[in-house]
Formats: sequence, structure tokens, C-alpha cells
Amino acid sequence: MKFFVDTADTAEIKALAASGLLDGVTTNPSLIAKSGRKITEVIAEICGIVEGPVSAEVAGTEYDQIMREAAVLRAIAPNVCVKLPLTPDGLRACKTLTGEGTQTNVTLCFSAAQALIAAKAGATFISPFVGRLDDIGQDGMELIADIVEIYDNYPALTTEVLVASVRNPIHVIAAAKIGAHVATLPPAVLRMLYHHPLTDKGLAAFLKDWAGTGQTIA
Ligand code: G3P
Repeated sequence: MKFFVDTADTAEIKALAASGLLDGVTTNPSLIAKSGRKITEVIAEICGIVEGPVSAEVAGTEYDQIMREAAVLRAIAPNVCVKLPLTPDGLRACKTLTGEGTQTNVTLCFSAAQALIAAKAGATFISPFVGRLDDIGQDGMELIADIVEIYDNYPALTTEVLVASVRNPIHVIAAAKIGAHVATLPPAVLRMLYHHPLTDKGLAAFLKDWAGTGQTIA
């Protein structure tokens, strides 16, 4: 399973890239707003840190405007993945951009039907939002299972399932068990994956015993 980080905070991205766990980055207009920076600058900086796909989202909703914005975003770096809304104009742009060799991430997916048409439009990634579905009392992970099953039925569909709106490690493990290709994680959730109290307790005991030996290894 690939891990992307869902943030536009370049200090966080640098720190997480050093962990060796990062396969890409996703951003959205809210995360860019939170960074307080110009989208083209922040995406260029992120693309310099991470080799994998860096999702940069258009703000236009009408085809011609989406295509103008996509042209600006994809010119930033070869690893920019243009993020598009799951609307008729967004999917039309997806088809065009995919045909031109640009990576695409279709976002704000909340149903299997939406995921199917995004795949037919040639999306590189589909982003179903599990946390936001859970928030309204629907089972976000059931949607992931449905999409993976549907895509598996049609090997010609090459779209990867990018689990988004991830809120905790339980989401990550459930998505991995289903076989989703990618999870995009807020930095805090990515860090949570390391933790287990028995690891901390065991390490403390080992270090205490080791100190008692008076030895050093290097
Ligand atoms: O970028 C898409 C997504 O991961 C948003 O997550 O937490 O705002 O629902 P959230």
C-alpha cells in the first residue's frame, strides 16, 4: 500500500519524507489556504521534496477554466497530479488530461457509481472520502470495498483507489485489508502508525538492562 501525506505544510512533508514512508502528497484548496502561501509556490516546493505524485487541485468548475488552471498546475513539475472535482466538467477535463499524459486525481467521491465513471474517464486516482461518510453515519470503508471489488471486475480500468479523509490508523488498516492502492494520511495519523505502548515499554526495559552491562556497540 502506498502512503501519501495530506498536507501543504512543507516542514511536515520534509520531516515525513526523511522517514522513507512517503510515496506522494495530496493537497486541496482548504490545505493550501491553511498554508497561507501561493499555490504555485507551495506545489513547486513540495515537488522538489517528493518524487511521487503531488496532487494540486483546480478551483474552476467549468471545463475551459479547469483546463486553463490544469495547464498552470501541470507546468510546475512533471510529478504534479491534477486534482479534479467529480462533476461532469471535472470528468470531461479528466478524460482530456489523461489523454495528454497528465496524472489526474478525481476528488470528492462518495459513491461507487461516481468511482466507476471516474475510472471510465481515465482517472489515475479516485479519492473516496471515508471520514466524511463516517461523519454522516454511513460506512466509509464499505465504499472502499465496493470500489475495489468493482475495479477488480474490469482489469481494463487502471484507476488506483486513493483512500482520503482518513482520520485514524483503523481506517488505514481496514483499507489495507481491502486492498486499496493508496491512503492519504494527515501527518498526525501517519505518525500514529508507529505507536504501540508495548513497544515503548519494551524499549525502556531493554535500554535499562543494556545500561547495566556498561557496554557500547559503537
Ligand atoms: O484532501 C481530501 C481529504 O483527505 C480531506 O480530508 O479530513 O478534510 O475530510 P478531511
